[in-house]
Order: sequence, then C-alpha cells, then structure tokens
Amino acid sequence: MHAIKYLVAGLGRIGRLHAEMLKTSIPNAELHAVCDVVEPLAKSVAERLKVRAYTSYDKALSDPEIDAVVIATPTFLHKEMTVKALEAGKHVFLEKPLAPSLPDAKEIANRVKSSGLKFMIGYMRRFDHYYRRAKSLVESGALGRVISFTSIARDPSPPPGWAADPQLSGGIFLDQLSHDFDIARWIVGEVKEVYVVGGNYVSEEIKTKGDLDVVSIIVKFNNDAQGFIHGARRNTFGYDLRTEIYCEKGTIFVGVPMDTMMSIGTGNGVSYGGVAWFEKRFLEAYMEELRHFTSAIIEDEEPLISVDDGLRLVEIAEACWRSYRERKPVSVS
Ligand SMILES: NC(=O)c1ccc[n+]([C@@H]2O[C@H](COP(=O)([O-])OP(=O)(O)OC[C@H]3O[C@@H](n4cnc5c(N)ncnc54)[C@H](O)[C@@H]3O)[C@@H](O)[C@H]2O)c1
Repeated sequence: MHAIKYLVAGLGRIGRLHAEMLKTSIPNAELHAVCDVVEPLAKSVAERLKVRAYTSYDKALSDPEIDAVVIATPTFLHKEMTVKALEAGKHVFLEKPLAPSLPDAKEIANRVKSSGLKFMIGYMRRFDHYYRRAKSLVESGALGRVISFTSIARDPSPPPGWAADPQLSGGIFLDQLSHDFDIARWIVGEVKEVYVVGGNYVSEEIKTKGDLDVVSIIVKFNNDAQGFIHGARRNTFGYDLRTEIYCEKGTIFVGVPMDTMMSIGTGNGVSYGGVAWFEKRFLEAYMEELRHFTSAIIEDEEPLISVDDGLRLVEIAEACWRSYRERKPVSVS
C-alpha cells in the first residue's frame, strides 16, 4: 500500500492549513501538490512545503500520481471543481458547505453517488474531542432525553469578500451556521422546522451584498426537541462559540469564549484572553478529519460525513431564508 497522495486546491485561510497538516501530521498521507490561481501564492506554499505547484486546476488533475483532492476554494466553485475531480478519478475531501444553491448541491450529490469514489465534506466539529464526548454522553442515555439544543456562534470578523455575498457563499445560514446545524443534527437528530429573525448590525459590506449579519433561529427537531441557534459575523473579543445540550437529567456545555490557559492580573482585576478563531479552536479536529478521510480511502470504508449530510444542510439553509423572508416558521422539506 502506498501513501494516499493529495492535491490541495485553494490556498487561502483553510487550504494552507490542510496543506500543512497533510505535509506534517497525517499518517499514510502525502502532500503531492498544491494549486492556486494566484501564482505567487501557489509557488511560495509549494516551495515551503517542498511539493509541486500548479496554477491550473485542470492540469493538476491530469497528474496521474494524485489519488485525492482537498478542495478549499470559494464555495461557488465547489460544484465544478468536485465534478472535475470525480471525473478524473480522484477521491474528494470538500470544504464545507457543499454549494451555495440547492440545484448545485443536488448535482454534487448525484455525481458523488455514481462515482464510486470516496467523498467527505469538512464539518470538522464532528472530530472535535468535546463535541464527540457530548455525542457519546447523549447516546449513552446517562442524561436522559435531549430537551433543547442551544448554539451561539459569533465570528471575530466578517469573512473574505466573496463570502459576504450570499450568491457566492450561501450566506450566513450556510457559510457560517451550517456547522451548528451539522452538530445539532449529529447529536440531537433531524431538523424539522426553522423560524428566523435576522438583520444587519455589524457589517456594511454584508448588508450591501444582500446577506444578514446577525440571526436568531428557533429550531424544532423531528424528535420533539427544541433548539436555538444564534450567529453573528463580528465579535469584539474573538471567536465566541458555545453549545449547550439541555437534557432531562443534566446539561452539557461545550466551549467557553475565553482562553483560561493565561490570565493577566492588574489593579483592575483579572482578565483572560479569548480564542482567536477557528484555526486555534479546531486545530486538532482539522487534523482528525484528514486522518479519518485518509483511513476511509485506505480501508475502503464510508467516511463519517456523507454528501447527503451536506445536502440536508443546504436544504436547512434554504428553509432559513424562506422563514426570514416570509416571517413565519418553515418546514425543512
Ligand atoms: N471548515 C472550516 O472551518 C472552514 C473555515 C474557513 C473556510 N472554510 C471553507 O473553505 C472554503 C475556502 O474558504 P477560505 O476562507 O479559505 O477562502 P479564501 O478566499 O481565503 O481562499 C480561497 C483560495 O482559493 C483560490 N482559488 C480561487 N479560485 C481557484 C481555482 N479555480 N483554482 C485554485 N484555487 C483557486 C484563491 O486564490 C484563494 O487563495 C470555503 O468553501 C469556506 O466555506 C471552511
């Protein structure tokens, strides 16, 4: 058995992280090449990691040594790039979300299913130690049934320009909050209905491009549990991500908005730093998801997060938009 040889396409915020991890930390994986349309970026990352650089994705895909592709490009490119990778016979690890619109998401799902190749979508919170413990605790029954799920997700600052445009990114419900819906579905169960209140409070760019920047979503699950998901695109003290699972016999709290590993005491009291952003909070999880995907290829097993999970999250995001526009609760079809 040879190591799985990867191409990482898209070397922005998240692609560089995947490339570095594949180079240094994933057993049985080898970073073979990187690709970005920005030539100096492709070259500098390739030089640093001592791998091949491509600026043309098509050319990179024709490299017969590549077994698998990590697609970490802007979301509106996901469909085209996934289809091309599958057609070239490569396994695909696709960054979330599947695609900005339902028709594109459905096409990806159909192509994945008929390809016979491995596919996973990068909802890395499922590989986070604390969310995993929360899930196994719920499944053990020790806390009784889940009554409500609460998630607060406030990013330190708005995302890159394209992601402020809901036509390109899917908007706040998909680009940001599909992580929270993914964890909600994984731990609590299928989402039945959403009711959204939202508006523009923190980013002129997001407002101009037609997205919302602060939203509150009431959720109903098929199993009668309730939920509340709140997202904001700007937060003064860093990444504020908290989840609570309130059960009959206790509550699980995941994540705290402060880094208690260091504090500074002065005459004004003691202060703690925040967690800067996703790269710090989920570093281990990003590593684990790539380990898992690599092992799924080698062992010929189904990866944990299916293309249907990705599709369902696009359906939930569409229901959120409808609820916001029609100002009423909407069933997720
Ligand atoms: N799982 C997570 O926590 C997480 C975090 C951040 C981003 N993401 C997802 O990852 C994807 C990328 O987001 P980002 O924030 O890294 O974006 P980004 O804008 O920082 O980077 C995207 C990169 O893709 C490159 N690119 C554009 N077109 C290309 C093409 N045709 N071929 C090769 N490269 C191309 C750009 O030059 C850029 O360097 C998005 O789908 C986003 O939702 C996921």
